[in-house]
Amino acid sequence: MSVTVLVGAQWGDEGKGKIIDVLTRDVDMVIRFQGGNNAGHTVEIGDQKYVLHLIPSGIFRPDTINIIGNGLVVDPLALQEEMEGLIKRGIAVKNLQLSDKAHLIMPYHKLMDAMKEGQLAEGKKIGTTKRGIGPAYTDKADRCGIRALELLDLAEFRVHFTEQAEKYNRIFAAAGQETLDIDAEWLQLKAAAEYLKPYIKDTVLEVNQAARAGKNILFEGAQGALLDVDHGTYPFVTSSNTTSGGACTGSGLSPRYIQDVYGVIKAYTTRVGEGPFQTELHGPEGEALRKAGNEYGATTGRPRRCGWFDAVASRYSCMVNGINKLAITKLDVLDRLPEVKLCVAYDIDGKRYEEMPSDSRLLYKVKPVYETLPGWMCSTDHVSCWDDLPEKAKKYLRRLAELVDAEIGIVSVGPNRSQTFEL
Ligand code: IMP
Repeated sequence: MSVTVLVGAQWGDEGKGKIIDVLTRDVDMVIRFQGGNNAGHTVEIGDQKYVLHLIPSGIFRPDTINIIGNGLVVDPLALQEEMEGLIKRGIAVKNLQLSDKAHLIMPYHKLMDAMKEGQLAEGKKIGTTKRGIGPAYTDKADRCGIRALELLDLAEFRVHFTEQAEKYNRIFAAAGQETLDIDAEWLQLKAAAEYLKPYIKDTVLEVNQAARAGKNILFEGAQGALLDVDHGTYPFVTSSNTTSGGACTGSGLSPRYIQDVYGVIKAYTTRVGEGPFQTELHGPEGEALRKAGNEYGATTGRPRRCGWFDAVASRYSCMVNGINKLAITKLDVLDRLPEVKLCVAYDIDGKRYEEMPSDSRLLYKVKPVYETLPGWMCSTDHVSCWDDLPEKAKKYLRRLAELVDAEIGIVSVGPNRSQTFEL
């Protein structure tokens, strides 16, 4: 039996979908434990490319059970659309389960997300995906959320939804914003509820039974550690616990079972949305990385901000997550660079910081202290084992791992399932 948690160790978009797809070879169950359809996990199999938002990346293996855990916020319309999209492409979703305790994103959450972002001044905006994630988690904490189990009783669901939608409409009207057509929204929700009913389960039981039976379980994190609501660059974060601890609360499995924590880390750094980004490259250098790495959001299509690898932030992330194995992705993107840089410390107002400060305001002032290494200037996208990597690429990876204090477990040199090797 093995229970492994896989998390993003930066600001998301590290290539988790692909690594999960590789790891699911020997896995009986894949569990998403936080976030919602703000995530976009890209999996390429042969010449087919799939982008998953809510459905776990184990869905392509018919014998793997895929669980959308209680820790997520789920937009029922988006989930139905994603399931139908897969079915159309010949991927069965019979092996999918939705936790009856997962909270639902309702149409008013999406409107509220957009309204709140619109009201924030420049410099204070979060740059959310506008999927309603924050407002849905707010209602969960405020104890007025609607859970998936309510979809099983349409009469009660309608009463609860109408009551909440009317409350939100009063807020929208007072702010001079458009209000919801509650009856029209209800018709769509009712159809989605009927579609999703067979998939709603007490997944906490399923997960614990699987663990007790010695099954191999993989937790699929979404976003990244630096977007964690407690440990990230607050307030420029998402609204869930993206770090490994969230796997337990978001699934109902005890921490006693967890053995390994994989941290997926890009060979450089990217961020979408607003907030501090200590090693961001502005101008042509950043643009070149964006182009080489095709750095555009899988969910929103927004261009990602790009920069050098930040070992200070990543070391912090490895510590908080307890990462013992690294999966380093997109090494090939650096193939053509004459030199590569690793940020080893921060200079803030003339003072050297070896650890990441908690105050995001300080992070805006960071002058990165770089260690520069020679680039390998040759293609790595065909490499299938560690020994075949160019010596200079190995040196870069070894130094990166040493700086973040974790071991390399997997290296990825391209988007396809085949462009990955384990060490
Ligand atoms: P929200 O999760 O939509 O509320 O957005 C909050 C912040 O998290 C914004 O900066 C988003 O760009 C960022 N974010 C949310 N999901 C992802 C993701 O899957 N990858 C990268 N950034 C994300």
